[in-house]
Amino acid sequence: MKKISDPYFRIPEHIKPIEGGPVFDPALHLQLEKPERIYSLEDFGHTKEAAAAAPFDLAVTTPFRLLSDLGVEALKESIENLKGLRRKSERMANFIRGSIFYSPFIKELCLSADVNNFIKSMTNSSVLPHPMGLYQGHINLCPEEEGREVDRWHTDTVTLDYVLMVTDPKEYSGGHFEFFQCTKAQAIRSMIRDEADPHIVKVEFPKAGYAILQQGNMVVHRASAVSKGVERTTLVQSYIPDSTNFNDVSKLDDCKLVDPHDILFTEWARYKAFLSQRKLDHLIEKLPYCLDKNQVCMELRQAIRDVEEAILEISDPNDGRLVHLAQDALTDLL
Ligand SMILES: [Fe+2]
Repeated sequence: MKKISDPYFRIPEHIKPIEGGPVFDPALHLQLEKPERIYSLEDFGHTKEAAAAAPFDLAVTTPFRLLSDLGVEALKESIENLKGLRRKSERMANFIRGSIFYSPFIKELCLSADVNNFIKSMTNSSVLPHPMGLYQGHINLCPEEEGREVDRWHTDTVTLDYVLMVTDPKEYSGGHFEFFQCTKAQAIRSMIRDEADPHIVKVEFPKAGYAILQQGNMVVHRASAVSKGVERTTLVQSYIPDSTNFNDVSKLDDCKLVDPHDILFTEWARYKAFLSQRKLDHLIEKLPYCLDKNQVCMELRQAIRDVEEAILEISDPNDGRLVHLAQDALTDLL
């Protein structure tokens, strides 16, 4: 079987992966069990048209088992080995990015064909691990500051991701993964009114090794402050639709404040080149023979648009901005 990681996964030349940690074994470490329920975008109040325009029908799932107990232990050990990479930002309190460059276990978990097929069984369409390593195996850790949210209210700038609970929820209080079961516009209106909102759902993970899958760009979510305990770790793994025709929601500005630029700009260029390459391959295979020059040129422009946008984004000298909904002029987002 062709490995999912081919051909685009690459470890930056100056990173040396950690040696001697756990070795990923899908038979031992995975325990893939379907969620009880999959909420659709229509369940979140999106119109049929809006739902049809999105890459997936799925909004969010109830918690499902992803890792076995042995898998949880191996992942914990792997994350422990990465503690030196912890960082803070205005939105996320304590996090690690680029874990799959350093940890062979996390890399194999994130690129696992078994997990990929399992995700596909929930979305009913093919997905690929996000081609940027920086968007894979993102780790959120317990904030060091008391009362600080793990991650503030936001929508993701990736299309699809799972949030995997690594810590036994009995070991801490608070720190809930929460989402608004409504559209983004409705959630923002609720925040402006600043009232207790019946749309907010608190997810109860039964134990470590459980995850939820969400179309994170369509679901307003956060992880609340931890009120008791010192460990509360999640791993977030991102995917893109396996398609040449989807709206890419990623933003370089989002990454500029949280990722090392010597890795980020090359990763961004490779990602956008990957998207364009797939579109050019599609064009080579499917472009109809015709006399319509405008149509032919439009198709070519469309195919290289990702690369052209990437050049503009990478050239832009601004410092970047990691958007979250508490910080912005919320009314501007409606
Ligand atoms: Fe998120």
